[in-house]
Amino acid sequence: MVDVLVIFGPNLNMLGTREPEIYGADSMADIMGALSDQAVDLGRRIEMMQSNDEGVLVTAIQKARSDAAAILFNLAAYTHTSVALRDALAMFDGPKVEVHLSNNDRRETFRQVSLTAGVSDGSIVGFGADSFRLGLDAVHRLLLRREGAGAIRQIRGGDIGWPRIFVMWPLLALAAWAPCLALYSAKVVWR
Ligand code: DQA
Repeated sequence: MVDVLVIFGPNLNMLGTREPEIYGADSMADIMGALSDQAVDLGRRIEMMQSNDEGVLVTAIQKARSDAAAILFNLAAYTHTSVALRDALAMFDGPKVEVHLSNNDRRETFRQVSLTAGVSDGSIVGFGADSFRLGLDAVHRLLLRREGAGAIRQIRGGDIGWPRIFVMWPLLALAAWAPCLALYSAKVVWR
């Protein structure tokens, strides 16, 4: 199980040479390298993948249900067209953050529609390669919130209900008898 699955969609393998005036000069390998370093700093285990194939991406998201706690994704052009990817993301229960290098809202109208934003926790767009860095930070924070809530549930006994009934309550019952036993033995001594 990894903390974060990072997904790069179609044509992002061409970053660096692909329309650098829009997407910047960083290659996908550069971005992946920076994310790896950032993950180490955050103490998160991440896995990264890229595909130009919609079906491969759907399967990766389905698999993430058991293999990853969160997903950070740039589904590139499929963002604007893929009901299948939206449906796959909707099934994933962990934190989901969408990122885009360019600011889609300032581009062609067909890019201003995201089918996947509506099933995500949030989106980060328009900061070039930094969108990924900000996205990983956002996912990390969402995971921290969940982990915090989980820890509180454990302390309250929510996750250890049955052991609590069989171990804690008998121990408390014994503890309640302790003062009586002490008094009784004191009385024995006085006599
Ligand atoms: C993109 C924006 C999409 O519209 C486009 O098809 C991409 C890249 C971005 O990161 O800016 O391939 O997702």
